[in-house]
Amino acid sequence: MEISLRNQVAVVTGASSGIGSGIAKSLASAGATVIVNHSSERSTDEAKAVLKEITDAGGKGITYQCDVSKEDQVIKMFQDTVSQFGTVDILINNAGIQKDAKFTEMTIDQWNAVIGVNLTGQFLCAREAIKEFLRRGIDPSRSIACGKIIHISSVHEIIPWAGHANYASSKGAIRMLMQTLAQEYGADKIRVNSICPGAIQTPINKDAWSTPEALNSLLNLIPYNRIGQPQDIGNLAAFLASDLADYITGTSIFVDGGMTTFESFSTGG
Ligand code: BGC
Repeated sequence: MEISLRNQVAVVTGASSGIGSGIAKSLASAGATVIVNHSSERSTDEAKAVLKEITDAGGKGITYQCDVSKEDQVIKMFQDTVSQFGTVDILINNAGIQKDAKFTEMTIDQWNAVIGVNLTGQFLCAREAIKEFLRRGIDPSRSIACGKIIHISSVHEIIPWAGHANYASSKGAIRMLMQTLAQEYGADKIRVNSICPGAIQTPINKDAWSTPEALNSLLNLIPYNRIGQPQDIGNLAAFLASDLADYITGTSIFVDGGMTTFESFSTGG
């Protein structure tokens, strides 16, 4: 059994680091041409480094700067991708940020920034992707589906998270966005799913793993007793985007080392 994304074009948002970079590499190694999206000038070098790893390994792609919370930039990213590569087959809606604050101290800017990237960004990219899937129609030389969207959500789609109300709200909403799109476009053979990562070792949660004490307390929340790696998410993303997953749509898959079994109940309750 081989996971193949040959002849397919994938847009991976927030691919210059963390989970997005892991997914970009996995999709490229399965044969997809990958658009390594990054949000700003500052992340250009990182995005280029991800692309270099991809091309050094024999894969294909480009880097593309676009802030997914901005409608005009998202529309242009999809237009440019279609004019350069012909179409888009796979969208990995990954870009996400945290702006943590105690709820009563959370500013409107912290709220809007997180909702803007994590939720509105996923809406805008999904809308442009679906329009392109429908324009192209099914092409069996690429995939038996018309298009695939994978939302990168979080265990905080279901685990409430004190001090992170904006982030948890954005992730809870992604579940309804994903399921609604799966329902609305199922008959068009567009598959829409979410991956819900637990603690993955990336810059977004550095405070939770960069000292032995922090890592130890994090591991108390993970029955499988290790922190996740971007590749753990990339492996599933490649499978979910492939035709091997053709009957999977409208669901959230947790990749969390068991975090959502609520480890703290192992000795209590
Ligand atoms: C967050 C991380 C956190 C993890 C588990 C993720 O969605 O971005 O900061 O470590 O959930 O709590």
